[in-house]
Amino acid sequence: MDSASRGGLEDIVVSTSDICFIDGREGRLVYRGYDVNDLVEHSSFEEVIFLLWHGGLPSKKELVAHTKALSSIANRRLPPGLVSLLKALPKKTTPMEVLRTGVSALSAYDPDAADNSKDATARKALRLTAQMPTLVAAWERIRRGKAPVAPNPKLSLAANFLYMMSGTKPTPLAVKTFDVALILHADHEFNASTFAARVTAATMSDLHSSIVSAIGALKGPLHGGANEQVMLMVQKIKSPANADAWIRKTLADHGRVMGFGHRVYRVEDPRAKHLRRLAEELGKQAGDTSAVQILDTVVRVVGEQKRIFPNVDLYSGAAYASMGIPTDQFTPIFAMSRVVGWAAHVMEQHANNRLIRPRAEYTGPTHATYVPIDRR
Ligand code: ACO
Repeated sequence: MDSASRGGLEDIVVSTSDICFIDGREGRLVYRGYDVNDLVEHSSFEEVIFLLWHGGLPSKKELVAHTKALSSIANRRLPPGLVSLLKALPKKTTPMEVLRTGVSALSAYDPDAADNSKDATARKALRLTAQMPTLVAAWERIRRGKAPVAPNPKLSLAANFLYMMSGTKPTPLAVKTFDVALILHADHEFNASTFAARVTAATMSDLHSSIVSAIGALKGPLHGGANEQVMLMVQKIKSPANADAWIRKTLADHGRVMGFGHRVYRVEDPRAKHLRRLAEELGKQAGDTSAVQILDTVVRVVGEQKRIFPNVDLYSGAAYASMGIPTDQFTPIFAMSRVVGWAAHVMEQHANNRLIRPRAEYTGPTHATYVPIDRR
């Protein structure tokens, strides 16, 4: 069976794009021409946002202005009405449900909500990227019965998010790790959530609607929801000594192992090694590397038995957990970064738009005779 007939749009090229390139055989990920490994080493999330939205690296002056806009209180703070809405939600609402609802509600407060012009969409993208960390952190505080922490305009997006979650200044290693994680998740070509955003944008719908579509697609465990599932697996395995037997049994039972496999990569996802290294460093700092040890054993056994490799979702959770971030916040954190790529794709779609409307190969009956209800 060829890849196309297996469904899932495998290997189907939907359109051209200048934003992101993946070489699935070589394990390369490129944003606007720049290898993600170089961006991890030399860049910052703020600079990567500029790169993805504007197509090139900023000058010093441009980066200062862009960072200032992204970190301003005016752009980061939540409208008071939105905070009231969050407080009215049941405490058991999951962070991903809150994010989906909150982003949708933010459009009601956005002065450019109905304006689909290029400039208005760029302004909305900037505001939403600045607001989403405040939204995620505010819900964490509210569900724990604490007051939300106001954003600090002097801190980078990574440092400010960690600060708003805990109310205390994060360590330099935590900030560096989080910034790298944000860079690594910022875009990934026509993945399911980005495609969902583009389909919505292609009806000439607005940015907020496109991002809500994307959040819904990201939530599923086969996509962004996998990072949460990985950590639940680590919790089930409990200790490195149990990992080998646990994973062998899971594979023998034909279980799907979260954090492994990819539609495009045939080798290890190039993002996984960075997240492993950072998770290990953070684990060492916290005096507990057991999650990384468990995952290393799982990688060895799954590699030997199935020839499938880690994806971005395998080690990210171990790093976030070392920073004290709850498991159900891992996917919202993914969205806080990917909103940048989603917005870049919405802008690209709007700039050269045609409705996305594929066909199905119909396999049902074609000439059924209608029988009135009292004769069925
Ligand atoms: N665990 C066990 N077996 C797997 C896994 C896995 N994680 N991934 C693929 N396989 C096996 C399948 O059973 C299948 O074997 P078969 O041909 O013998 O039936 C083969 O590899 C191909 O798998 P498909 O499901 O057809 O691959 P597809 O491209 O449709 O799926 C996906 C890709 C959804 C990512 C899949 O690998 C998976 O379910 N992984 C686990 C969930 C996950 O980690 N998702 C995050 C992906 S990265 C991201 O979205 C951010």
